[in-house]
Formats: sequence, structure tokens, C-alpha cells
Amino acid sequence: MPLHLWSVLLLGLGLLALAQSGPPLRTLAEKRGLQIGAAVEPNLLLQDPEYARVLAREFNLLVAENVMKWGALQTARGQFNFGAADLLVDFAQKNQMAIRGHTLVWHQQLPRWIYDRFTPAEMEAILHQHIQTVVGRYRGKIAYWDVANEVIGDDARPRTTPFDVLPDYLEKAFRYARAADPKAKLFYNDYGAEGLGPKSDAIYALLKSLKEKGVPLDGVGFQAHLDLNFSPEAARMAENLERFARLGLEIHITEMDVRLSGPGSRAERLRKQAQIYQEVLQVCLRQPRCKVFTLWGVSDAYSWRAASEPLIFDADYQPKPAYFALQRTLQQP
Ligand code: XIL
Repeated sequence: MPLHLWSVLLLGLGLLALAQSGPPLRTLAEKRGLQIGAAVEPNLLLQDPEYARVLAREFNLLVAENVMKWGALQTARGQFNFGAADLLVDFAQKNQMAIRGHTLVWHQQLPRWIYDRFTPAEMEAILHQHIQTVVGRYRGKIAYWDVANEVIGDDARPRTTPFDVLPDYLEKAFRYARAADPKAKLFYNDYGAEGLGPKSDAIYALLKSLKEKGVPLDGVGFQAHLDLNFSPEAARMAENLERFARLGLEIHITEMDVRLSGPGSRAERLRKQAQIYQEVLQVCLRQPRCKVFTLWGVSDAYSWRAASEPLIFDADYQPKPAYFALQRTLQQP
């Protein structure tokens, strides 16, 4: 068969596959006033064309899975590497996607040098320079920043970080971010706080006190790293989101994935996984302040928990029951 006939055939097959899997999630989400996002590793954009295609087709928001963390950006003190982060930002802009920046204050994936003993004044200068440089570079391009990530531990108390030497480091981080990009919405992000409980209470109290002090905090992110046995009851989650909404905060689901491991047949587990995705999306859609629903990756092949197949596309980019559950839910009135 001549080459051009092959390409017509391939194009036809491609369109057929698209038609079979229905309208892309981003098209449906846009109609609901929701942004649907995925965490991205820019090196995969270069290595795997299918990854880039699925990402651009299905999602209208990107978040850097790793390349905007301290350890990636400021490997040596005062030296910034923006190559990979720039790539992500360019890709998002070319494909009309919003960007979440992740993350400016976290206790993990920090560079070695930040554990040196700094005075409060030195730490203040370090924090200020980092935030000013990073947020400033992408001023006007990054819609949302996770300024603070996982500040509260599983014991519902603040975690220990190298920033502790600086009193009020958290408030300062938000103020530096606001100054560097007044239009970016600033978030507190955490896991294990989707439902009600001591950890979510501690986060609520922290954010309430920040708001009362006039700290520029615009929203709260619920990561939603879930599994088949650990997922919030929908009613409790709705109640929890509502109290944060009443603080005047915007609400994002920021890192959702659902581990498939556990007892039961594969078909049953895939169904349960789909149901959990659907429930969390429904809770978000019913909460007027919930504006972003983000998955922690695109395909199971590259997930940080690849072995437990937690995402909505399998390793061959085939949509799983969870994909169709999200698609149906977005189409429900
Ligand atoms: C994870 C990445 O997915 C991994 O690739 C990396 O090795 C460790 O960090 N909460 C967060 C994310 O806020 O930044 C984490 O991302 C997952 C848990």
C-alpha cells in the first residue's frame, strides 16, 4: 500500500480510538468550570511522544512532579537550574494548560547544603532569595503555588525542618511569594487530611490562624493519595472541605492516585478504584470552591507507585475503568 494510504488508515484508526474513548476529560472539565491536572516529569515529554500526546489531549493543568522542588532547582547555594522547569512551562503554554508550582517549603527533597547551621538572618535571606528567584522567574505564568507542603505531621503537630531556625518562616514564605507574583494564588498542601480527624483539624487550625493574621493564603490542597482500603467517606470529606471553604479558601485536589493492590479479583479492584476516583471528583464538583482536580501522573508506567497501578491510564495508555468513571461523572448534571 502506498505510504499516504497508510497514513490515512492510521489517522482513521486514531480517530476511531478517540471516538471510542469519548470526549477528552479536559473538554468536559472546561464545561464544568473545573481544571483537571496531572503531575509531569519534563524528561518524559522528550522521551515518550505518546506521554506528551495523552497529557495535552486529556488535561488542562500541569504540576511539576519533582522539577520545581528545592533539591532540583537550587542544588548549590545561590545556583539555580531551571532547564527542566522551563521545559514544563513551555509545554503547558503551547498546549493552553494552567500550571501549579510545587513546592516552596517542604521537609523533603531539599539540597544537602540547607542542613548546614544557618543563623536566623541567614535562613531568612536564603528563603527569601529562593522564593523571589523561583516565583519571580515564572511571574504571570504559574497560576497556583504550593507555598507550603506537609507542614503538619501524622501526629498532627508541626514537622521539624531546616527552616525552623527562622521564627515565622511559614508566614514569611507566603509573603515572599505574594510579593514575587501578586497574581499567583498561594496554597497550603497536605495529605491524609481529606476526611475529618486530628491531622485535618490541626491543618484547619493552622490555616485559620494564618488567615486571621492576614497572611496571603488563597487555598488549600488535598493530595488524596489513596488506596482501596484507605479513602475518605464522601460525606465526611464534603463536610471537611466545607469548613475550609468557609475560611474563604479555594480548594484543590492536588495529587490524587489510588493504589490497586489488595485482596479481590483484578476486575473487582479496578471497579473499586474507579469508584474512589468518582467519589472524590463528585465531592469536588459539589463544592463550589473546589476548582482543580489533579492526578499524580498520567500512566501507571511512570507513577511513583508504579507497582500498584494507581492512575487512570495503564502502562500502554489504555484508559482504565477509573478514566471512564471520571468521564461519566464530568458529564452528569
Ligand atoms: C513524590 C514524587 O512523585 C516522586 O517521584 C519523588 O521521588 C518523591 O516525591 N507528596 C508530595 C509530592 O507533595 O511532592 C510527592 O512526590 C508525593 C507525596
